[in-house]
Amino acid sequence: MHPERRSIVGWLLGGGFTASILSFLYPAIRFMNPPPIPEAAVNEASAGKVQDLKPNSGKIVKFGSRPVLLIRVSDTEWKAFSAICTHLNCTVQFQQSSHQIWCACHNGFYNLNGQVVSGLPPRPLDEYTVHIRGEEVVISRT
Ligand code: FES
Repeated sequence: MHPERRSIVGWLLGGGFTASILSFLYPAIRFMNPPPIPEAAVNEASAGKVQDLKPNSGKIVKFGSRPVLLIRVSDTEWKAFSAICTHLNCTVQFQQSSHQIWCACHNGFYNLNGQVVSGLPPRPLDEYTVHIRGEEVVISRT
């Protein structure tokens, strides 16, 4: 083969190989580093009806895309915290027997002010404000 033709064929094959590699790598890189999705700003969320939650119980409600733990401490006292454990982001829950917030992942405990009582969580839970509007429970950012 003529040397000039050989270099052209070599260049085309090399370019095709490079394009193939890039076509495999690009989707993998996009998958590992997706573009940020802007979260809609939510300042308030309905958490259901007052009668839906008995005293000394809790439930997880949605606050935008985030889970919030709503706790009815007594007939008149309500609390709400981010339900995302500050250790490794597991979802926490209200534990009726201890009257504390419990993370089952590594047995972390928070009190009803969101402060760490025991276990691995390094920080308190973020607190939300609970409003009772007629029969409706509304949670807002503190
Ligand atoms: S993730 Fe909650 S204690 Fe580890």
